[in-house]
Amino acid sequence: MQVLIVGASRGIGLEFVRQYREAGAQVVATARSEEGLAALSALGATALKLDVADTASASGLAWQIDGHQFDEVVIVAGVYGPSTSALQTPTAADFDTVMHTNVLGPMRVLPQLPDYLAPGARLAIISSKMGSIGLRSGTAGWLYRASKAAVNSVLKDASLVLAGKASCISFHPGWVRTEMGGEGADIDVATSVAGMRTVLATVKPEHNGSFFNYDGQLLAW
Ligand SMILES: NC(=O)c1ccc[n+]([C@@H]2O[C@H](COP(=O)([O-])OP(=O)(O)OC[C@H]3O[C@@H](n4cnc5c(N)ncnc54)[C@H](OP(=O)(O)O)[C@@H]3O)[C@@H](O)[C@H]2O)c1
Repeated sequence: MQVLIVGASRGIGLEFVRQYREAGAQVVATARSEEGLAALSALGATALKLDVADTASASGLAWQIDGHQFDEVVIVAGVYGPSTSALQTPTAADFDTVMHTNVLGPMRVLPQLPDYLAPGARLAIISSKMGSIGLRSGTAGWLYRASKAAVNSVLKDASLVLAGKASCISFHPGWVRTEMGGEGADIDVATSVAGMRTVLATVKPEHNGSFFNYDGQLLAW
């Protein structure tokens, strides 16, 4: 089993690496800091330096994964951006950081993957229920919400292009106790990632282009 995790220096991404390594998978994982790369190597993963918000760095993924055939790919890298509660216009800099990381990042990574997917591969983007328009009941963090709605659109397009080659899904990982989720979040990172790994392992081609909660429940876009 070969796995690629993009954005794995800490939090949910690092836990994916830990659990896949524990299960005996061969893991290639990315981080942008030396500290992050060291954490990945310590877990026995092949560590690649990658900043999804940097054009040159992100475009260098393909040659670094040449020769691999990934059974599972998870794109995790993300930032929350400004903590707003209503309709506060973001600065252009905040807009660019959040959109470049959460949306442009996957749009840079996805086109480099098709040649490196094993037959019947499964691919996930870690999105968020906060991006769901159908389930929307609050407005906190509207820039983050907009970015996750946008990346859900990106995932849907990837699912159409890769249909027959890979099953592509979006995940809400739950509200998870990480640096982003905070100490008061609902679930620990091990529970979130174990749930998503189970869903990913059992995902069928008919689920291609779906939005899943970490526990396997289907979510409205
Ligand atoms: N925690 C939650 O409750 C929750 C809920 C819904 C969705 N999510 C989503 O889950 C994903 C992981 O979040 P988390 O909770 O694990 O957050 P986290 O602990 O803050 O980790 C964020 C990860 O994204 C990486 N990252 C940020 N910008 C990057 C860039 N430009 N290039 C490459 N990597 C980058 C970080 O790397 P550095 O260490 O280099 O910064 C870090 O590894 C995110 O997409 C987030 O939106 C989380």
